Amino acid sequence: MCGIVAYTGFRPALPILMDGLKRLEYKGYDSSGIGLLDSGKMKIFKAPGKIKSLKKKLEKEKLEGFLGICHTRWATHGEPNEANAHPHLSANGKIAIVHNGIIENYAILKKKLLEEGIEFKSETDTEVVAHLIAKFYKGNLSNAVLAALEHVEGAFGLAVICEDEPDVLVGATRGSPLALGVGENESFLTSDVSVIVGHTQKIIYLEDNDVIRVSKEEFEIKNIKNKTVSREIQEVDTDLGHVQKGDFPHFMLKEIFEQPEALRNCIRGRLLLAEGNAKLAGLDNSLKELRTIDRIIIIACGTSYYAAMVGECLIEEWAGIPVEVEYASEFRYRNPIIGSNTLVFTISQSGETADTLAALKEAQNKGATVLAICNVVGSTIARTSDGGVYLHVGPEIGIASTKAFNAQVTVLAMIALLLGRQRRLSSVQGMEIVQAMSSLPALVEETLELSDKILEIAKIYYNHANFLYLGRHYHYPVAMEGALKLKEISYIHAEGYPAAEIKHGPIALIDANMPVVIIAPKDALFDKIVSNAREIKARGGKLIVVTTENCAPLDEFADHIIKTPSVNTSLMPIITSIPLQLLAYHIAVLRGNDVDQPRNLTKSVMVE
Ligand code: G6P
Repeated sequence: MCGIVAYTGFRPALPILMDGLKRLEYKGYDSSGIGLLDSGKMKIFKAPGKIKSLKKKLEKEKLEGFLGICHTRWATHGEPNEANAHPHLSANGKIAIVHNGIIENYAILKKKLLEEGIEFKSETDTEVVAHLIAKFYKGNLSNAVLAALEHVEGAFGLAVICEDEPDVLVGATRGSPLALGVGENESFLTSDVSVIVGHTQKIIYLEDNDVIRVSKEEFEIKNIKNKTVSREIQEVDTDLGHVQKGDFPHFMLKEIFEQPEALRNCIRGRLLLAEGNAKLAGLDNSLKELRTIDRIIIIACGTSYYAAMVGECLIEEWAGIPVEVEYASEFRYRNPIIGSNTLVFTISQSGETADTLAALKEAQNKGATVLAICNVVGSTIARTSDGGVYLHVGPEIGIASTKAFNAQVTVLAMIALLLGRQRRLSSVQGMEIVQAMSSLPALVEETLELSDKILEIAKIYYNHANFLYLGRHYHYPVAMEGALKLKEISYIHAEGYPAAEIKHGPIALIDANMPVVIIAPKDALFDKIVSNAREIKARGGKLIVVTTENCAPLDEFADHIIKTPSVNTSLMPIITSIPLQLLAYHIAVLRGNDVDQPRNLTKSVMVE
């Protein structure tokens, strides 16, 4: 999604901004641009497509300015062309802005500005703000931004510079993250802290309606009412910014293979064998409250939503608490009923997904305690929630989420265990679960050895146009997630379905051209799903089965059998999801796709 880096200081801005753009790339974007003051003059360079196109444009330029802004854009208003790329300029060319988010009343504002004779150069909502700031500019950029924002509705993270104030950066935020990096005689503004931690670890996360004025040595933060406010400087982890692909051709493959280590980090220090329980520091203050809850709502989007669906099965099974899983985008605009003993969880890898954040706030407005399960430390959702649990799996760069999914399920399993031990699970049952969870990293390692076999299957099917993924109970969400992975990176149409439900429609699609991936580990529903597999086979469908040892009679009629190791039935999604990640990956590579940055997708969706 859109990303911002801005700089003011004693070093030439261009290399810092270009490096920032490069690091922002992982979020997904479709154009980029840079604006800086060069010998006191505002210069803007923009290009559609990848950053290398922008780099090409800058090759012959000798730019030496010390103040600048840059942006990766993910198109919302207007196609991803040069004119719509950021920065956008005021009519006199003196004020340049970059913007994340959506200005909801831009059409009304644009109409007024057009009536005042302003000419627009782009179709974006952002350009309206550039003109508004210029309209209110009377020699002080932050005052002009404050005045302009009084007229603006919607979400924004903004960075603004002006030719007449050659070392001043102004930032503003509402519903879209923005942070200040405080260096020695230099400062950074960014929407993604991980891209600047190579320069400084001192970070101030701005809060909604903050407007910050930054120069080389100092900064001042005001709220929308023009009152000075103070925000705490936090030290962030240096590891955040140093993510390399190593020997892997893609971040996605690296992250798939990182899962044993990721799970080790996720469970480290959190499982209590002797007590058969889990200890999650982020929930310590809520333990009493957790004892009394009688209903749970889990809110999420995308892959996190499918992890939540696995969580629903886990919590209901182990703790006996009814769980509802909700799409954040739906929850936020309904009138959800939240009782006094309802607990709400939000799940978000990035911690920045706009709908999830809005749903979180809506639940809080209705009086709920909201706990977050996030990966990105210090993210907006993590900071806005009433507590929660981090995944601790390190940055996930591939847009298609893999290690975060399995860590989310692992965290949900630990929460289910904790809630279960407060209720109906005995210590012996708890110990069995802890033992099973401790064995997961090794079992995931073993599962990854299936990669070559899965590549061979991918070679047979990578040119197909449709796939079906089927599973039951714990593996229905896994089927949904498997289909999502394939769609995201291979652009093949795929649907996930509860296996028995296909008789009510999708079975009409089955013929010899339809590969059907069935997730059928040996569990209580094995015989049922074998029957579903036979129904597919009888209609000529191609069966790719993910199962475990002793899978007869499946091995007699399936076209391909992928056998994974076994673990406690409730934890099996962490194993069965892995062949599906690998299948999607290999198919996408065979089709020649950009696996880490698939078309049209972004890592964190910061617009609703
Ligand atoms: C985007 C990403 C997905 C992710 C979803 C939710 O669509 O491409 O990989 O699952 O957002 O993101 P979150 O950060 O809230 O988990």
